[in-house]
Amino acid sequence: MQHGGDVYTEGILKGKELIDFSSNINPLGVPKGFIDNLNEGILNITRYPDLQYRQLRADLKEYINNVEILFGDGDRSLELVHEEDFILGNGAAEIIDLTISSFKSIMIITPSFGEYYESAEKWGVDIVCVSLNEDMEYDYEAIAKNLHSVEAIIIGNPNNPNGGIIDKEKFLPIIERCEKEGKKIIIDEAFVEFTGKHKDSFIYQLKDYKSLFIIRAITKFYAMPGIRFGYGISSDGEFIDKLKEKQNPWNINAFAELAVKYVLKDRNYINKSIKWIKVEREYLKGELKKLDIIEKVFDTHGNYILCKLKNIDCDRLYEYSLERGIVIRKCNNYIGLNKSYVRFAIKDRLNNDKLLQVLKKINI
Ligand SMILES: Cc1ncc(COP(=O)(O)O)c(C=O)c1O
Repeated sequence: MQHGGDVYTEGILKGKELIDFSSNINPLGVPKGFIDNLNEGILNITRYPDLQYRQLRADLKEYINNVEILFGDGDRSLELVHEEDFILGNGAAEIIDLTISSFKSIMIITPSFGEYYESAEKWGVDIVCVSLNEDMEYDYEAIAKNLHSVEAIIIGNPNNPNGGIIDKEKFLPIIERCEKEGKKIIIDEAFVEFTGKHKDSFIYQLKDYKSLFIIRAITKFYAMPGIRFGYGISSDGEFIDKLKEKQNPWNINAFAELAVKYVLKDRNYINKSIKWIKVEREYLKGELKKLDIIEKVFDTHGNYILCKLKNIDCDRLYEYSLERGIVIRKCNNYIGLNKSYVRFAIKDRLNNDKLLQVLKKINI
């Protein structure tokens, strides 16, 4: 298993301070609402959480149904989801694993988050890989062509490592077909808030299609990977119940409950984050394009940028950056990519400039 964010091996365990461009976490840090209410979490430690997590489900429902208000697009509260539509997990990773384990066969789009493949292999699920096209966009024709051979698809929106999103119009016929044929579509929206356009999400389609299963987390946008909280949403109650049967009781701890209660309504944090990502995404993309070592910068809607290198491979660039206190994500272990690919997280201007300075000075 290899992920971004192994700052332990090279940094923390050696007592070194590194700037981590390998893991994609909102640089605005832990939302204030969580810090201000920590005491409530401490008081809750001495009792077991509610086995049914009723408050937590209500908080998630509020978040999804008030997406337009929270993301600054009007004052309309919607009825997109109900409390029973959620399944709760120790990070999105638990939900991904649980969901994949329930199928005999699955389509994985490549390259994509490595856990999809690892989880499918672990559970003996047959895997059908469908590649992104040259520009790292979804190949809807190839997806449709291979649909007959699987029970489910897992697809990122935005996808990791490139940040591409699903074109709803082109994807809708695939959803319709899955709906008719009883197949499931798992849409991993762990990074969706960073797109800044909430209509990119498939939460609007959940009610109409039982085949949809959306995965979300507070990990990336709310900068809380250490809290470990993710969730799945679907209007197929039977499927949700089937997954729940495989879970351990009390899998969500008191601090994750606290986080959900306070950070998902932090409009100030959401607003600042959207403003930051819009500016820094364009800035870093533009500056990376100017560098001699970059052959191609792929279009992204996430908080990370996939690049194809020229005249240098990812191992050398990794070592070179590490010597200068920066960790980058080598992408050679993504299916379909090789040593010419790296991914950079988008951080605040100060750190983005530090990265650019290091990359500018390399002698090739
Ligand atoms: C696309 C994608 N989904 C899910 C996850 C896992 O998220 P969590 O830390 O909430 O388990 C990651 C983590 O890198 C990811 O890249």
